[in-house]
Amino acid sequence: MSTSIALNNLHGRHIVLGITGGIAAYKSAVLVRLFVKAGAEVQVIMTPNAREFIGPVTMSTLTGKPVITEFFSANTGEWHSHVDLGLWADAMVIAPATASTIAKMANGVADNMLVTSYLSARAPVFVAPAMDFDMMQHPSTVRNIETLRSYGNHIIEPAEGELASHLVGKGRMEEPEAIALAIDAFFGVSGPLAGHHVLVTAGPTYERIDPVRFIGNFSSGLMGYAIANAAASMGAKVTLVSGPVDRSLRTYPGVETVQVESAREMLDACAKAFPESDIAIMAAAVADYRPSECHESKIKREKDGIDVIELVKNPDIAATLGQMKRPGQVLAGFALETDHERENAKDKLARKNLDMIVLNSLRTPGAGFGVTTNAVEIIFASGNPAISVPLKSKEEVALEVVRAAAILLPL
Ligand code: CTP
Repeated sequence: MSTSIALNNLHGRHIVLGITGGIAAYKSAVLVRLFVKAGAEVQVIMTPNAREFIGPVTMSTLTGKPVITEFFSANTGEWHSHVDLGLWADAMVIAPATASTIAKMANGVADNMLVTSYLSARAPVFVAPAMDFDMMQHPSTVRNIETLRSYGNHIIEPAEGELASHLVGKGRMEEPEAIALAIDAFFGVSGPLAGHHVLVTAGPTYERIDPVRFIGNFSSGLMGYAIANAAASMGAKVTLVSGPVDRSLRTYPGVETVQVESAREMLDACAKAFPESDIAIMAAAVADYRPSECHESKIKREKDGIDVIELVKNPDIAATLGQMKRPGQVLAGFALETDHERENAKDKLARKNLDMIVLNSLRTPGAGFGVTTNAVEIIFASGNPAISVPLKSKEEVALEVVRAAAILLPL
């Protein structure tokens, strides 16, 4: 993920960042940087062990505030008030949170400044666990995390991947950008889309040929997920209808994901969510055709000797929603074109009864499928001047797309 993510809701917020003793502590420096860049004030509390992994000087330089580790300042004897900190905080973030700190938090073992402050915090608390795969799986950790959840703490689930132990599995602390976005999305409930419902489609659809084969496409789902997250960061309640995508794609608080496989399943999920939606953004690469029949058992090369697969047209989800659309609802689509781009996009805009279309030219280097950047042109049915979005991260493009759709909402 790019570090140039847009955080809209952290300006002026007070964040207490608790850092515990894990390898991922080095990532906390990036997290602090993101918070500070977004205009937040950050107070770092480190456990004594965390200091073995990252120097307090780094953190105090980034935050502009001395790091707190002990109950008393060694130099002045001044008492650090966990109660004051707990009241000062708009959010408390513990990243990385080791198994041991999670256990202490779950059981009220207040033997350091971090846990004491946690127990005094009145603000929402976000916990980003980081530990080895086996520790993560241990029933005690599972139970402690569930206990924290039951207290209303927000758990930022660790990602899967290679761990410091070289084991591969779940336990790696979520990337700083993702943690920052999750907190940003949380505060977004007071953002410009607060009280609005946004429906987003993402990813490809798979159309089954038999139990092991399908017709699909190369869509990664990155753009659709970025749009869902952008809408959530602006305060919307989001329904994300997702085709099969890589499990590493993350969504943030405020996004409810409905997993589907085929175009027809995607249509069903969209038709259900659309009546309650204020904005619908169709970013999925829906397969235009599906096999006329799905074989119940695997097609055998010799026995079945199939040369031709008969295809039938899939429903057009965007066009179906275009017909269902009520006045005041905003419907946006994407047009992925290789030639006669604007003409084709405008034709789709009209044909599907869309209010706006995001034109993605596959001719622009760095834009489109499978890459983390995009460059688009947003064209409106109302005749509003088109918006040209130059090559940026998909997260930034997503914000522009959601902002453009939000402008079309009735006042
Ligand atoms: N779309 C959809 N359902 C389909 C096909 C497309 O909802 N069965 C949506 C896409 O999510 C996108 C827009 O319609 O927002 C345009 O998709 P695109 O594939 O460019 O258009 P098609 O109508 O399939 O036209 P063509 O393949 O001829 O370019």
